[in-house]
Amino acid sequence: MDFDTKKLFRAAERGRYAIGQFNASTADQIRAIMRVAIELRTPVIIGTSEGECKFIGARQAVKLCEAYEEAGISVILNADHTYKDVKEIKNLDTIRALLDAGYNSIHFDGSVLSFEENVKWTKQVVAMCKEKDPGISVEGELGFLPGVSQISKEKVEIKPEYLTDPAQALAFVEATGIDRLAVSVGNSHGISFQEDRLDIERIAAIKKAIGGRAVLVLHGGSGIPSDQIQAAITQGVRKININTELRVAFHDALTATLIGSGETTPYKFLPPAMDAVASVVEGKIKLFGSGGAAL
Ligand code: 13P
Repeated sequence: MDFDTKKLFRAAERGRYAIGQFNASTADQIRAIMRVAIELRTPVIIGTSEGECKFIGARQAVKLCEAYEEAGISVILNADHTYKDVKEIKNLDTIRALLDAGYNSIHFDGSVLSFEENVKWTKQVVAMCKEKDPGISVEGELGFLPGVSQISKEKVEIKPEYLTDPAQALAFVEATGIDRLAVSVGNSHGISFQEDRLDIERIAAIKKAIGGRAVLVLHGGSGIPSDQIQAAITQGVRKININTELRVAFHDALTATLIGSGETTPYKFLPPAMDAVASVVEGKIKLFGSGGAAL
């Protein structure tokens, strides 16, 4: 996976579409996502959270993604929310190991740190990644995103102080040299009973502030109504992360297939779950507008 991800995002900026990041922790999920990416000729990002990466294996995730290069599809493999637990940051060994395994994209999440500490660590991550290969893409995060990638019965509260400030976003991008900036604009991880309401004006203001210096990223893409996603893309979001909707689709289809069936052959009971994941991915890629953009 030896290519410059910058050119994919430059093309997204020109074409005014967003590239989807779809999270996965099994080979079946990656196959389902890639099947759609190949069909729709779109660049695609496979995301693995720390837990997902631990489960599938970093080297294994890299090799699985590399297997699709011959289909002519650019696959970015992104380590999502590296250092979810800030106590683990101390040194950057986890990121070094991911780079050695062959990840071509790192999301360093220092959003719970103070602005100064977030800048300090993000800058070090950028330096480490670029030293390894200038083509490796680095995402930083500013502003806090509540919630986890699951269905929640609790009300997820988004406090005003969580939201990303446009002027601070510019200062963060300039001080760190990141390629992509994940922001808090009314989004949250997971699906709760109340829908997310994106602050579209804030997205526009952040985009205006950072201009072309970094790619604007929307996390927590599950459960956000399509018209809001479209408005976010119109205002300049070029990468959107989806996880919960894929997890739910996989789980529900697998449960429905297995209950009472007595089927024990994985290649017989897994396809409906893979189809369910593929169907969600197809809907998102069409919504994001990246179909046909494979480079
Ligand atoms: P959702 O689980 O809400 O789709 O968010 C995924 C995400 O942002 C991964 O980083």
